Amino acid sequence: MRAPKIVTFAGSIRTGSYSASLAALAARDMALMNAEPVLLSLADYPMPIYDGDLEAAEGVPAPARQLRDQLASADGVFIVTPEYNAGLPPLLKNALDWVSRVKSTEGDAFKGPVYAIGSSSPGALGGYRAAMMLRQTLALGLGCLVLAEQAMVPGAGQAFDDQGGLKEERSQRQLRAVLTALIDQSALRTGLRA
Ligand SMILES: Cc1cc2nc3c(=O)[nH]c(=O)nc-3n(C[C@H](O)[C@H](O)[C@H](O)COP(=O)(O)O)c2cc1C
Repeated sequence: MRAPKIVTFAGSIRTGSYSASLAALAARDMALMNAEPVLLSLADYPMPIYDGDLEAAEGVPAPARQLRDQLASADGVFIVTPEYNAGLPPLLKNALDWVSRVKSTEGDAFKGPVYAIGSSSPGALGGYRAAMMLRQTLALGLGCLVLAEQAMVPGAGQAFDDQGGLKEERSQRQLRAVLTALIDQSALRTGLRA
C-alpha cells in the first residue's frame, strides 16, 4: 500500500516567512508519519494578477497549470496562510483563482484531494481570520473537502526553535492533530485504506 501524497505550501514567498516555516515543519513531520509529503513554494509558480482580458488573450499561465497538476495528483493538501488585513494574502488568492480557471479532464485539483489549513502570524490571533477566509474560498468557492482540524501559530516570530520545531506544546498538538487527520482522511478518500 503506498503512502498518501500530501502537497504542502505556504501563501508567502518572503525570505524567513513564518508560514513557509510552518509548511516546511509540516512536511518534515509528515515524512515520519506514513505519508509522502511534497513541499512546494509559490515562488516556483509565478503568475500575473488575474485579469479576464489577459486570460482571454493568452489563456491560463503555464505555472497555474503546473500547480493544478500538482494538486490534482495529491491525495491531500496542506496550505499555510499568513494574514493580510484580516484576510488572505493576494499571492495565495491569486494562485487559487488562476488554478480554478484551468480546464482539464485529468483529475480534479479541488474535489480530488482532502484539504487542511494552517496559519501563522506574529500577532496573538495566529492568522485565524485568514484561515477562515481560506476555508470559505476552498469549501464554498472551490468545493473542496476541508478538515475541521487546523493549526494556528500565534506569536510566530518567537514560535520556532533553532531546529525549526514549534516551542509551544499547544501549537505542537494542533499541528500533530491536523496532520494526523489529513493523512488518515487522504488515505481513506483515495482508497489507500479501507
Ligand atoms: C499588507 C499586510 C497586512 C497585514 N495584516 C495583518 C493582519 O491583519 N493580521 C496579522 O496578524 N498580521 C498582519 N500582517 C503581518 C503579517 O502577519 C506578517 O508580516 C507575517 O510575517 C507575514 O507572513 P509570513 O511571515 O509568512 O511572510 C500584515 C502584513 C502585511 C504586509
